[in-house]
Amino acid sequence: MWYLKLKTLIVYGTRYGATAGTSEEISKVLREEGFEVKVVDAKKDKIRDIKEYELIIIGNGMKFTGWTSEAKGFLRRFAKELASKKVAVFVSSAAQLLHEHKGEQEKLEEAWTKYLVEEITKYELNPIAMAIFGGWVNPENMGWLDKRMAKFFIEELEAVGIKGENGIYDTRDWDAIRKWAKELAQKARA
Ligand SMILES: Cc1cc2nc3c(=O)[nH]c(=O)nc-3n(C[C@H](O)[C@H](O)[C@H](O)COP(=O)(O)O)c2cc1C
Repeated sequence: MWYLKLKTLIVYGTRYGATAGTSEEISKVLREEGFEVKVVDAKKDKIRDIKEYELIIIGNGMKFTGWTSEAKGFLRRFAKELASKKVAVFVSSAAQLLHEHKGEQEKLEEAWTKYLVEEITKYELNPIAMAIFGGWVNPENMGWLDKRMAKFFIEELEAVGIKGENGIYDTRDWDAIRKWAKELAQKARA
């Protein structure tokens, strides 16, 4: 069977590290699909141009409903070029799982609009796939304000039965992440 093997860039903005792990997992699936994938932390590596890439995935960790300046910077800088590429967007969120557990449909829809739709609209993007994945809450090495928020999340997560491991509350659903990446590969080939 002959498949299109797209040259892919995954660029992400992270504050606490969860989006880095999610990006790596997505890259693994896409490589299994035969894609050639480069994964870049937008804070560490400067991306000078995106000409060579056919598929571009932008990942971002949420904080107080806002995007990282690095991921926003990437979108701002390459918005024009991204309009002619296949683009996918995902964010990491701890609130998602809480809303799901509590059956808060309205809040899930609000998050989809605020975290994804509003952001892509600013840059006139038309992604072939979008997702809100889980993130992690790890209060170690956080400043006092972040720690307070982390404590709030941990209490809420514990209340819905999520357990921490070594103080880290990871809400990522790896099966969902892999499934999304596999489906993305199919959409990108279409
Ligand atoms: C100070 C703070 C604010 C946060 N704000 C949000 C938020 O607005 N919505 C949300 O879904 N998750 C929120 N989270 C959870 C993060 O999205 C989660 O930690 C995720 O892993 C962040 O991505 P990153 O690890 O790649 O930075 C917050 C976490 C902290 C510590």
